Amino acid sequence: MEHPRDDAAPPAPAGWTPGAWRAKPAAQQPDWPDAYALEQTLKSLSTLPPLVFAGEARHLHSALAQVARGEAFLLQAGDCAESFAEFTADNIRDKLKVILQMAVVLTYGTGVPVVKVGRIAGQFAKPRSAPTETVAGQELPSFRGHIVNDDAPTLAARTPDPARLVSAYHQSASTLNLLRAFTKGGFADLSEVHMWNQQFVASSSEGQRYNAIAEEIERALRFMRACGINLAQEQSLHQVDFWTSHEALILGYEEAMTRNDSLTGDWYDTSAHMVWVGERTRQIGGAHLEFLAGIANPVGAKLGPAATTEEVLELCAALDPHRTPGRLTLISRMGAGRVSEKLRPLLRAVLTSGHPVVWQCDPMHGNTFTGAGGRKTRHFDDVLAEISEFFAVCREEGVWPGGVHVELTGDSVTECLGGSEDILEDQLELRYTTTCDPRLNGRQSLDLAFRVAELLRQ
Ligand code: TRP
Ligand code: MN
Repeated sequence: MEHPRDDAAPPAPAGWTPGAWRAKPAAQQPDWPDAYALEQTLKSLSTLPPLVFAGEARHLHSALAQVARGEAFLLQAGDCAESFAEFTADNIRDKLKVILQMAVVLTYGTGVPVVKVGRIAGQFAKPRSAPTETVAGQELPSFRGHIVNDDAPTLAARTPDPARLVSAYHQSASTLNLLRAFTKGGFADLSEVHMWNQQFVASSSEGQRYNAIAEEIERALRFMRACGINLAQEQSLHQVDFWTSHEALILGYEEAMTRNDSLTGDWYDTSAHMVWVGERTRQIGGAHLEFLAGIANPVGAKLGPAATTEEVLELCAALDPHRTPGRLTLISRMGAGRVSEKLRPLLRAVLTSGHPVVWQCDPMHGNTFTGAGGRKTRHFDDVLAEISEFFAVCREEGVWPGGVHVELTGDSVTECLGGSEDILEDQLELRYTTTCDPRLNGRQSLDLAFRVAELLRQ
């Protein structure tokens, strides 16, 4: 049976259960030392309240359907990996601030609605290139994110601990609670637009450019009020819809959070509104695709330069068998200089196949390198270059450049090189605090939003 509404995903494949992935090869799963303790923990997680409501995921689905039709733009942003250690109200607020600023710049600059999705309230797990690493002569399990183990280089810290799954759930719940309070309780009100400009940003060229927009918005609001419009009644000026997302990596956790929606009978992964599968776990016939195929949430898949058209078409068939707009977001992470060659054939094949996907650009993960000082970094110019190549190739192929997916923080970190303050390699040490990949700081993020708005306007 096809659902007539565009906010409803097609039903799960016949016979699918949240645990169906267990019969398939699952890449990137931790080596939990005690299988019994793990299963007990998962069982107790499965009795805890859902973090999101299925109706919310359907609402995001219809917003993404708008993006798929070329009527809206998807801004997805947040940490590479959230940390148990840096879990404070200020941290959450500052990340939200910079995302709201970017959304204002994009909405005001293009006149196109912006769908705001955070990599937040559950973005804890990291795939690794090797299961172990050698630190000072000792072979240790790799750090897989705070939902699995701790980053300290000792055997005790690196041993996967199922209790962390429960901590991740609770941290997600309180993060989501604060986000809901901020986005619905007045903080995200358009009349606060000046307040989101953080101190270290405000005096910069990006910050001043932002202030100019903020003033114009305030002027527009005054104008409407003077015209007799009762702004207090206009909910949309005072609140934003802000959605959560993360990589669905640790399948036991995602399974435990998956619930049958009593309204529709569909299965929803209630750990976030949207989840995606990474470049390292999107194998056809693998456990991650098996899991994603059965949940009704909007889902995403990262595509790197090795992705073939055959693979991508099989992936579309597995995740979007009924060709539902908004169901599937394909996230291109090719690296600057490779978009034309690598993405173009995929765009063409998917267009011909008729899958109404959202195409999104992740300009971060294809542009990571290790600097002279041994720090993983990215250059702002490469990030921008990949985005503008993405827009150009989408235009040439008649595909809507549906969104960007970036790793950022509200703090004034020095993790990515370049930008208008021109962070240099020997400055990376100053404020390099990421638990995993290097993130754009507040100024770089705002600058990026201005560039993306310019590209969208063209
Ligand atoms: N609700 C509208 C939207 O999300 C307008 C809006 C209110 C807004 N506060 C915002 C837009 C903050 C961007 C940022 O588009
Ligand atoms: Mn990352």
